[in-house]
Amino acid sequence: MAPSGPDFSTGLCPETRTTITCNRPQQTITRFGYDGPMTVPRPIVILGSGYTGHWIYELAQQQSLPILASSRHPETRLPDVAPDARIRFDLMDPSSWAGLPSQADLIWAFPATPLEQVQLFARHYCLPSLRLVVLGSTSAYDRADPTAQELPPWIDETSVINVDLPRVQGEEYLRTHHGGIILRVAGIYGPNRNPVQWIRQGRVGPSTKFVNLIHVEDLAQLCLLALKCGQPGDSYNISDGHPRRWAEICAEVSRRWGIVSPRQADHSEPGKRIRNQKVIAQFSYTFRHPDLYPALQSLNMEPGP
Ligand SMILES: NC(=O)c1ccc[n+]([C@@H]2O[C@H](COP(=O)([O-])OP(=O)(O)OC[C@H]3O[C@@H](n4cnc5c(N)ncnc54)[C@H](OP(=O)(O)O)[C@@H]3O)[C@@H](O)[C@H]2O)c1
Repeated sequence: MAPSGPDFSTGLCPETRTTITCNRPQQTITRFGYDGPMTVPRPIVILGSGYTGHWIYELAQQQSLPILASSRHPETRLPDVAPDARIRFDLMDPSSWAGLPSQADLIWAFPATPLEQVQLFARHYCLPSLRLVVLGSTSAYDRADPTAQELPPWIDETSVINVDLPRVQGEEYLRTHHGGIILRVAGIYGPNRNPVQWIRQGRVGPSTKFVNLIHVEDLAQLCLLALKCGQPGDSYNISDGHPRRWAEICAEVSRRWGIVSPRQADHSEPGKRIRNQKVIAQFSYTFRHPDLYPALQSLNMEPGP
């Protein structure tokens, strides 16, 4: 599905009117100091810095990017963020919006709902020159399908999305009205979000349902790359590209670690198979964790919490 909506190139500041490539320099704001003109990179704000936000923050710091992180309770929820990089932001509380820098690029890392509040905030804050990355979910492709097959078809970014879902309405508004770059994210795993533990606890079992996963380290890399390389108003599937049936994962986890889910086998849902070729091609990205099992091996060697 081709992106629809306004042409964002017309509203961009001069240095962004050219085609955006992955080698495109950071947008800059000009400041005048004692030694004459100098440029400083525009800050990036992580709106809603939870599990993924923490990883984005760490990665941006490693890359010396100017990064700020928001929470509704910054003093207690952002202990690993430098105090001067913490922002109090609550989508539901407009008085908190003034705490954002006057010009920043945004990585929106919580569900973009409710629509009316998303619209109010975006109209208030999102200048045409802003770069906006929004973390959506592959659940956007969930639809009641009476013709569901045992082997579900592959889904790419042209597949139909379910605009009845509230978060999809928010994402589509941001995409079509504010040039939001939508990342449709598969199930996130990584340290402290370990599928082996999900199996042990019976949160998942040996069903024939397909699951699509992404390691949080790859997700964090792709969020920062999306700010640089993503096409405004476009969407990208974010998954490791290897959908697997839970039954297959359970069997491998049992073989490697002797851990078995207390759940019974289940054949009721086909799940989805998500393609990720678009993001690989357009962002020139190589996955750090392309294969689930070596990644699980590393997670299981880490000391527990
Ligand atoms: N987890 C998955 O497997 C998965 C799969 C697909 C997509 N996603 C999506 O990917 C994004 C990141 O996932 P995640 O698991 O890293 O999320 P997360 O840990 O829940 O972090 C999001 C943070 O956003 C903040 N937040 C929530 N509501 C807010 C509001 N109204 N205004 C301002 N901040 C708000 C919360 O932090 P404070 O309480 O500190 O404010 C929350 O911790 C989310 O949009 C999620 O739905 C997740």
